[in-house]
Amino acid sequence: MSANLKYLSLGILVFQTTSLVLTMRYSRTLKEEGPRYLSSTAVVVAELLKIMACILLVYKDSKCSLRALNRILHDEILNKPMETLKLAIPSGIYTLQNNLLYVALSNLDAATYQVTYQLKILTTALFSVSMLSKKLGVYQWLSLVILMTGVAFVQWPSDSQELDSKELSAGSQFVGLMAVLTACFSSGFAGVYFEKILKETKQSVWIRNIQLGSFGSIFGLMGVYIYDGELVSKNGFFQGYNRLTWIVVVLQALGGLVIAAVIKYADNILKGFATSLSIILSTLISYFWLQDFVPTSIAKRMQVQSLESEIPGFQSHLPLGGL
Ligand code: C5P
Repeated sequence: MSANLKYLSLGILVFQTTSLVLTMRYSRTLKEEGPRYLSSTAVVVAELLKIMACILLVYKDSKCSLRALNRILHDEILNKPMETLKLAIPSGIYTLQNNLLYVALSNLDAATYQVTYQLKILTTALFSVSMLSKKLGVYQWLSLVILMTGVAFVQWPSDSQELDSKELSAGSQFVGLMAVLTACFSSGFAGVYFEKILKETKQSVWIRNIQLGSFGSIFGLMGVYIYDGELVSKNGFFQGYNRLTWIVVVLQALGGLVIAAVIKYADNILKGFATSLSIILSTLISYFWLQDFVPTSIAKRMQVQSLESEIPGFQSHLPLGGL
């Protein structure tokens, strides 16, 4: 049963990541009138949808009784403030990570950023070994290094992007590089910390996700206020939202649920493999179906993974939060 859930959750993660990247790519190439949606508000909406979905799942687990649901939420969240507070750590780190990714993307070209961010595959393994006492053999370490190198090659800059990066000053490249390297460590740490909480305490994964999402919404709202407060007061919270935006936001929320299930039933290392598989899958779809990907002389760079897909508002688990 749990082996089934493990492969099911990994399969859904591949599907979710691939469709998110392709939908985002499509939404970004569409010509629209009026203001574009704000990614800071999309983060909050995705968190709220995630919480609502988790409440529904807890409701289902409590045999669809409102009274039981109310009791569980009270007992497990409100009456255990210390347990709930534990989730402020990964939530805060993910928020910091999302902001670091913005800093990285403002100072590095997207391709350098994506290649460097693959280092998170190794930091995740290092944290899994040190915090969860996982044992990895020589072949497993070797596979991780090969995976990291392979994914980095897929995302290697094309000639034109190399030219772009020369325009960035050495100082700003350094800032960008530091930001992305810190994000690699925060991604590994937050993922493994969440895994430790899930596997070492008995609260359900959905309760844990409600706790994570609640802090995420609070931090996210602070982000809206800080980055886009003026725009929101001028054009509203939902400015620029259309049907496609909602699809992206729903896919994003689904991503949070699937990542939590993957971390519970599989682990963070397998999550890295699944998201890497989705990079290959979206490259193939992009090449054969959308025909917007041209292999370059250096390596087959995946254009479909646009800059936005790495921005947490849109990222991800993006693998590219994945992605
Ligand atoms: O790049 P990385 O794999 O670390 O990205 C993980 C992303 O997944 C973060 O943006 C985080 O907010 C999200 N996440 C989530 N729910 C979880 C765990 C992670 O939404 N339970």
